[in-house]
Amino acid sequence: MSRVAVVTGGTRGIGAAISLALKNAGYQVAANYAGNDEAAKAFHEETGIPVFKWDVSDYSACTEGLARVAAEIGPVDVLVNNAGITRDTMFHKMTPQQWHDVINTNLTGLFNMTHQVWTGMRERSFGRIVNISSINGQKGQMGQVNYSAAKAGDLGFTKALAQEGAAKNITVNAICPGYIGTEMVLAVPEKVLNERIIPQIPVGRLGEPQEIARCVVFLVSDDAGFITGSTLSANGGQLFV
Ligand code: CAA
Repeated sequence: MSRVAVVTGGTRGIGAAISLALKNAGYQVAANYAGNDEAAKAFHEETGIPVFKWDVSDYSACTEGLARVAAEIGPVDVLVNNAGITRDTMFHKMTPQQWHDVINTNLTGLFNMTHQVWTGMRERSFGRIVNISSINGQKGQMGQVNYSAAKAGDLGFTKALAQEGAAKNITVNAICPGYIGTEMVLAVPEKVLNERIIPQIPVGRLGEPQEIARCVVFLVSDDAGFITGSTLSANGGQLFV
């Protein structure tokens, strides 16, 4: 039986590329999404990957969603915590709502999802967790105090949980993408993107979602069993850590 993988935010952007790459690598993939039914339907029709709608910032919605995945596909062996949102604004203009929305999805979402598959992974003595953090969790980014804090939190989560999973053959790793050519990045004002961001990327271009997806496929493979608690940076040379 092939392994079961859940990808949150798995129908668009980096997540869609991850879902597809895992399917092509032989996994049974369930792609979660929160809101965009049209994109999810199109993704499903194009790839044949089943899609499941729930909000990762809601613990009980995760319980119900994962129960559906278990019933329809099987217990989860691989979890890719990819779902993420931005509410970019300068800190002096940031509302409590913009803070909480980003923390609840991008950081608490990792707890809500991982906590529910963890016991099963421990019982079966196998698991792979990959958390999609960000270069902006490593370096901080103006206009993203909320997002940078959440993404830095994802790295602490990864390192702590990796220590708990190691004896049970569960690896927990993070990937820090740089600026990838997705809707999220293309929503940045064009002038900022072209004049402030792209010139800071030594390879001279945005990354491609597939370049992150290939990192995930490696980290969840049996070949990567000795890698846990690590942070894999894929950012075109923008930041060396
Ligand atoms: N890098 C460098 N400088 C930046 C910047 C950035 N990422 N973002 C904004 N600035 C600069 C602007 O160029 C501007 O400078 P000047 O006054 O010299 O022209 C100054 O900061 C203020 O910016 P704005 O005039 O745009 O101010 P605003 O209040 O209208 O908007 C903002 C502020 C919402 C933060 C907007 O600038 C913005 O969206 N910036 C991009 C922030 C960003 O990098 N977000 C990443 C999104 S992609 C992502 O999150 C995925 C990932 O993991 C990498």
